[in-house]
Amino acid sequence: MKRIRSVGIVGTGSYVPPNILTNSDLEKMVDTSDTWIVERTGIRERRISSPETTASCLGLPASLAALQSAGVSPEDVDLIIVATSTPDMTFPSTACFIQDKIGASRAACFDISAACTGFSYALETGQQFIATSTYKTALIVGTEVISKVIDWTDRNTCILFGDGAGAAVLQPVADNYGILATSLGADGRLASILDLPVAGCIRMSGREVFKVAVNTMIEAVEKVLDRAKISQKDVSLLIPHQANIRIIEAMGKRLNISTDRVFVNLQKYGNVSAGSTIIALDEAVKQGRVGDGDIIVIVAFGGGLTWGATVMRWGGNL
Ligand SMILES: CC(C)(COP(=O)(O)OP(=O)(O)OC[C@H]1O[C@@H](n2cnc3c(N)ncnc32)[C@H](O)[C@@H]1OP(=O)(O)O)[C@@H](O)C(=O)NCCC(=O)NCCS
Repeated sequence: MKRIRSVGIVGTGSYVPPNILTNSDLEKMVDTSDTWIVERTGIRERRISSPETTASCLGLPASLAALQSAGVSPEDVDLIIVATSTPDMTFPSTACFIQDKIGASRAACFDISAACTGFSYALETGQQFIATSTYKTALIVGTEVISKVIDWTDRNTCILFGDGAGAAVLQPVADNYGILATSLGADGRLASILDLPVAGCIRMSGREVFKVAVNTMIEAVEKVLDRAKISQKDVSLLIPHQANIRIIEAMGKRLNISTDRVFVNLQKYGNVSAGSTIIALDEAVKQGRVGDGDIIVIVAFGGGLTWGATVMRWGGNL
């Protein structure tokens, strides 16, 4: 019987491509306006990668930054899990490309497909490997070149998304620190309201997605807080999927978590799909908004439909 031990995030990193696409740029491409986009979504600009850039290209600097902040060398990585809906290829996995680029020659590698919930699914998967002592160090990456699967003539979707990557290093941490509870869910009956056909572009029924997103994320957060026996008022920072400011505000309000405890960066990047919450977490860390002992909740939803929440106590590095 393998030992169950506490597992936490001991380092984070992120990277977004330099090219910025603003709302006024979009006004020249489709029938939309900066005012409409800001009022309905909160998004002001997003990053767009160059044509030759792949998900592993963005994942590389994010991964190196995460390893550096954890003080871990690539040779110490046992496992790489990449969450992406825009992989470099069908196979090899994007994790294999990142393994090669960073020189993590000992690592096992695979990708996870859970759309915008991908990072939450990958985080929990990595956590399981370390909790059972199968591995000691996992690199979890969320990376997307989502701009390459956007229909740039569809104003319903093209205003929402952007490219970027984030990464986290997972290791054993002190007891009562790290990941305290996770809840993952899916409802395949709702597959058609948000999908990305093979070799196609993202299709979405925005209004339907909106409603399900708010309800499922609230339930997922309530479930993990209940499992971890933590009250809403003890949450230091909620890191929600950065899809729409109105979704985030509705959720914060119903969960009774004040806006100063909710992290938002969607105005700069839009929805980075599987990169969204880990880029946000990395920025929160860099801004000094995450301290030792803080209770952090990550919550996401996406195509599938899928959703997931994780509650963790920050710190406890061994
Ligand atoms: C997409 C979204 C911003 C649309 O906002 P909304 O308030 O629901 O708007 P509606 O879909 O009701 O559309 C209202 C009107 O705006 C129009 N519209 C849609 N996109 C527009 C745009 N970019 N610019 C201007 N008008 C637009 C619609 O055509 C519609 O016009 P109509 O009333 O003449 O038919 C919102 O539904 C949303 O964010 N949903 C969740 C999407 C999401 O998070 N997806 C990713 C999941 S991981």
